[in-house]
Amino acid sequence: MKLYVLHGINLDQLGQRQPEIYGAQTLSDQLPIWEAWLEKSWPGNSIEALQFNDEDVLVRFMQEVDGHGVGFVLNPGAWTHQSLPIRDAVAGLTAPVMEVHLSHTYAREAFRRVSLLAPYTQGSLSGLGWLGYRFAMEALILRASH
Ligand code: DQA
Repeated sequence: MKLYVLHGINLDQLGQRQPEIYGAQTLSDQLPIWEAWLEKSWPGNSIEALQFNDEDVLVRFMQEVDGHGVGFVLNPGAWTHQSLPIRDAVAGLTAPVMEVHLSHTYAREAFRRVSLLAPYTQGSLSGLGWLGYRFAMEALILRASH
């Protein structure tokens, strides 16, 4: 399976942005850790990790790479709570999408409890930090093989 870990708006600021909530690590810190884990535990799968601050670029990217053998792990950042374009794009994908949030969105402000894309995802994980991404990837791989 080709796994795409995709980050949305403001998540390029991880490491500096509210570290008390989001921690000190970045997506590029995680990538080699995930690659080593994948190779050891789930050989034959690969991973690409990207961040987007332009909604239309993210939408177009997902549509271009969508297809058989693909799985998305998507953290749209604040777009989660207010983006109909992201929701519609996710609804139109054929590949499975897992929604992930670093912070525990249900334990924060009320507006973070709403995810517009959740109805079109396979599941969502929040509050587990970077571990959530690993569980999400594992869920996509296991589901694809059953
Ligand atoms: C986030 C949660 C969102 O509410 C917030 O807007 C983010 C990050 C998270 O990973 O915890 O940008 O998606």
